[in-house]
Amino acid sequence: MSRFLSTLLVLGLTVSVSASVFLYNSSAKASTLRQAASSKNFLLGAAGSIWKFTPDGSYQNTLASQFNMITPENELKWFATEPQQGKFDFYWGDKIVAFAQQNNMRIHGHTLVWFDSLPAWVKNGTFTRDELIAVMKNHIQTVVSHYKGKIQEWDVVNEAIEHHGNGLRDNIFLRVIGPEYIAMAFQFAHEADPDAILFYNDYGTENWPVKSEYQYNLLKGLLQQGVPVNAVGLQMHEYSDNPIPVERYRSELRRLGSLGLRVGVTEFDASSKEPQKNPLSMRLAVQAHTYANAVAACRAVPACKSFTIWGVNDKTTHQSDLAPVIIDANNQPKPAYTSVMKTLLQSK
Ligand code: XIL
Repeated sequence: MSRFLSTLLVLGLTVSVSASVFLYNSSAKASTLRQAASSKNFLLGAAGSIWKFTPDGSYQNTLASQFNMITPENELKWFATEPQQGKFDFYWGDKIVAFAQQNNMRIHGHTLVWFDSLPAWVKNGTFTRDELIAVMKNHIQTVVSHYKGKIQEWDVVNEAIEHHGNGLRDNIFLRVIGPEYIAMAFQFAHEADPDAILFYNDYGTENWPVKSEYQYNLLKGLLQQGVPVNAVGLQMHEYSDNPIPVERYRSELRRLGSLGLRVGVTEFDASSKEPQKNPLSMRLAVQAHTYANAVAACRAVPACKSFTIWGVNDKTTHQSDLAPVIIDANNQPKPAYTSVMKTLLQSK
């Protein structure tokens, strides 16, 4: 999107918290999800991107009316914030942060160190160990300082564990710096903003015992060394033909909480496209059930203080072919919207 078009969109962006299509009838105590979440002192987030804002305002109205927290979907990734070495660009990040502030939404910063979404100068760089440490420190500290006081929590390290969880994932930081890059990243972020809540974020740990064990031990080790990691994010990208093992997911939340960490579900989505042989109504009902279970488990664990859905509607979300979020491609609430609302309102 051109900066010009985006600037036009961003100028009139303070939206009111009302969205008539989302009215929730029955004995409702809230008419939007945001109201339901806030009434429980709970953070209900969505990934949102300034690049997806629509001229008619529907995308951004939904974002601000239904959610009390936002994760900027791409604007704070390394490729966007430091596209060339030492040349920082906060143009888009500042726009989405301003939108969140105007709408009184908490901001979950995403993400400082990740093998993906790196600019070529980092990914293909030929650094010595000391040089890459300095590059990583400068990146983390410049970005975190820029948003100090505005962004309250950060995914400091994202997806550092190998896909199935047998070890650390290969990336330039591991190759050049060694496993200590993880502890260093948290230390650098903490130095830049001692008040920020610092997350380790990864996927699959609700499902896969090997990976959850590895993550648990990694975090426990970091804490034992005094590394300033405060929280853990479970991304939770789910597929409706592979139901979440709810018991083990809930106990995973509990044991992470028992390390003294805050826990958050950070990127939830659940396909409503599979299995394709099932009628749409059934797939939507299964999706609604999956969302309700996931929210209920988080609400049942005191350490779990936030639940973020990875996208605003099925048209604009990351895996739009899976129709994985709770608002459809026409910006209408799906059964999962209602099930999340009910679960929030019924939770203690
Ligand atoms: C995705 C975004 O949603 C897309 O728009 C982008 O093209 C690629 O990244 N795990 C993460 C997120 O931590 O940053 C990813 O977001 C989805 C998987």
